[in-house]
Amino acid sequence: MLDKTQRVAIDAPALDAPVLGGITKPDLITVEQAKAMSLADMTTLFKDHLNPGQLHFMKLLGFNKVKVESAEGMYYTDQNGRKILDFFGGFLARSPSATITPASCRRAKNSRTKTATRSRSRSCRNMRQRLPRTLRRSHLAISTWSSSAHPAPEAMEAALKVAERAAGPKRPRIVYAENSFHGKTKGVLSITDGPLYRGEFKLLDNNVKVPFGDIDAIRNAFERDPTIGVLVLETIQGGGGIVQASPEFWREVRALCDKYGVIWVADEVQCGMGRSGRFFAFEHAGVVPDVTALAKSLGGGKSAMAAMIARRDVYMKAYGTKNTAMIHAHATFGGIGEACITAIEGLNIMYDEDLIENAAVQGEYLLERLNALKAKYPKIIKDVRGQGLMVGLEFQDFSQTLPMVLRPVVSVLDDKLKGSLSGFIGALLLKDYDTLVAFTEYNRNVIRLEPPLICERQHVDQFVDALDDLLGRGIIRIVKDFIGSQFG
Ligand SMILES: Cc1ncc(COP(=O)(O)O)c(C=O)c1O
Repeated sequence: MLDKTQRVAIDAPALDAPVLGGITKPDLITVEQAKAMSLADMTTLFKDHLNPGQLHFMKLLGFNKVKVESAEGMYYTDQNGRKILDFFGGFLARSPSATITPASCRRAKNSRTKTATRSRSRSCRNMRQRLPRTLRRSHLAISTWSSSAHPAPEAMEAALKVAERAAGPKRPRIVYAENSFHGKTKGVLSITDGPLYRGEFKLLDNNVKVPFGDIDAIRNAFERDPTIGVLVLETIQGGGGIVQASPEFWREVRALCDKYGVIWVADEVQCGMGRSGRFFAFEHAGVVPDVTALAKSLGGGKSAMAAMIARRDVYMKAYGTKNTAMIHAHATFGGIGEACITAIEGLNIMYDEDLIENAAVQGEYLLERLNALKAKYPKIIKDVRGQGLMVGLEFQDFSQTLPMVLRPVVSVLDDKLKGSLSGFIGALLLKDYDTLVAFTEYNRNVIRLEPPLICERQHVDQFVDALDDLLGRGIIRIVKDFIGSQFG
């Protein structure tokens, strides 16, 4: 029942923007107006309604000057018709080509319940074809499809929940890694190792942190604490700066988890879906986790989509009876038809276009060319690493090596960019070479190279040639040019 004030607000003609529940159509922009909006207006809206602080970083990197009008193949086209080479893959969601047709998405639209369920089952059936045997044994192999605004962390939340229930109430402790990134929702934030993201939130305290790739630390933790029931690791750390562990490490992880009855959750959100040159990155080590999560390009670059996949016995222990079946079932947009259709199509394209093999081949070529650059510029490039098309390029920290005269100039820069060449190089690659790269969450000296999996040799050449030309300017000119770009 409305109270008197509300009734007045609703009934009264809208003289101005109504504060409470007006029924007159407010001043809404249309889709056409939204598409035609100028960059300046978009920037103002971003500042006023989205994230004013983030604009600061967008300006530093020059992102605020680009309005993407379209994306096709390896390129974005901006408002001026400039073609920008995409070496970041739209946060990796653009892994398959942008060939999934809106028409096929529309087929599944507007029929949420029945079609969604059928599409979800069909997506699961497809995914099951690609699962390792231990994950495959089940019609329930894929239990959660999430297509919300935050599907990846949601799939990881589902992974944590299924693992916790399978481990049992007497083994609630979770081992996770230093420099891990599993998402920003409240549950997985507890196993995400970034002080910036953790903020001052009240997080779960049943966690044990170990260095990534350190098998002795895991063994010691398991031996010391019998209440540990779950181990969560990214197979290749993305946010940590593209960090790998050896195949032996993963084989020992499997053996230790078997010995101590710990559920191993592999976060394959970033490194899965063919990015590493295998469908799952853990396949390089020939071992299989108990639970895993996929996201990013699972939606074929068209929709937000993620999946949690668990071994049948793990799933059944957690939710296998009629009394437990509904604990993690149903979500309004879980496995909605449109997203499932794009997943079905995306997986088909991945195999029809040999994208996984392409990731392996082009990734090897990219590493080879970058290693040659490292040999050419040892004072600028510190390390080159990665697998498939998940490559990290680490620059030397130059804050200490820069000539004295330039240090005060650098000191006025943002805290995050001081000493970090990656920000300068990323900004100049975009400004002067029409090339988009990205950064890693924790290591500001690392540029992340994760182009769509359709990347060809010519794109690798285009990227490396641009980088070579830029690095040829030398550190001092790069710093000066970056500073100049801030006033241009
Ligand atoms: C390994 C891993 N897990 C989870 C996430 C969270 O995904 P999102 O950024 O879509 O929230 C990411 C994001 O990059 C990731 O790299």
